[in-house]
Amino acid sequence: MHVVSIDQFTPKDLFDLFERTKKIEDTFYSKGGMLELAKKHRDKQICTLFYEPSTRTRLSFETAGYKLGFGVVSTESAGEFSSASKGETIEDTIRVLDEYKFSAIIIRHPETGIVGRAAKVAKTPIINAGDGKGEHPTQSLLDTYTIFFNFKRLDNLTITIGGDLKHGRTARSLAKIMAKFDNNHIKFVSTKSLAVDQDIKDFLKENNTTYEEITDIEQGVADSDVIYWTRLQKERLEEHEKGLAGGFIISKDTLKFMKKDAIIMHPLPRVDEISTDVDSDSRVRYFDQAGNGLFVRMALLDQLASK
Ligand code: CP
Repeated sequence: MHVVSIDQFTPKDLFDLFERTKKIEDTFYSKGGMLELAKKHRDKQICTLFYEPSTRTRLSFETAGYKLGFGVVSTESAGEFSSASKGETIEDTIRVLDEYKFSAIIIRHPETGIVGRAAKVAKTPIINAGDGKGEHPTQSLLDTYTIFFNFKRLDNLTITIGGDLKHGRTARSLAKIMAKFDNNHIKFVSTKSLAVDQDIKDFLKENNTTYEEITDIEQGVADSDVIYWTRLQKERLEEHEKGLAGGFIISKDTLKFMKKDAIIMHPLPRVDEISTDVDSDSRVRYFDQAGNGLFVRMALLDQLASK
């Protein structure tokens, strides 16, 4: 099984993965749990192939691998340090890595759709760790795990998704996955130039999920259960977009417009779109959210390698 798009996950798939995640998390925190986990996949290896910078995704996948007992083989800056720099295609790279019998190959790449191309030729399970402005499915898995952990449900929620909705793959994927659950309402909050693309709005309509587009931050965060904020994706701006302003900033003043039991999420990295003085608010979840990435990725690797 490859993990290329969040579209491939049914609600049951998600809940099964969350159950596995919770079990792994409990084992991790139990006495002797680490020893138990580290035995699980001895003599297996995973490979991380990152053509684009990453802190959380690469390091949490690699940590997840080590904690489960995998050997981890890694290339960061793969565009420069792998044979891609000599002109090797992704297809040939994958055909070669198939020969090394990894349990999974985890790829991040700046080109939208290229991880899908890799999966087409691969015998080894491929995990999309972010492809251009396309998708970042494991981010959506940890995002929904964080929401589920807080509300014990993924339906009947109002979700504000704000910031750079035009170039941000995590925002797109979150909207899509939340549309698979009943009675969710999405509030997109952005400047007009960073508005969400039509394909996402069409997807929501097809899945009977209501949405609205808002250009006022106070109205945007009011009455929402989840406030999911994103940074301006400077690295993905086209030439004519250079100089675009990032849009809205969540500050201490913005907090008073939010519900008392709302949660504030962000895939990180944060630049300046959430002021640091917001971090001490009890509704903030973005660092816990990143922490959940370790356990969700452990569960995913465990699932793929146990097949
Ligand atoms: N959220 C996320 O994908 O972070 P990194 O770019 O640091 O992996």
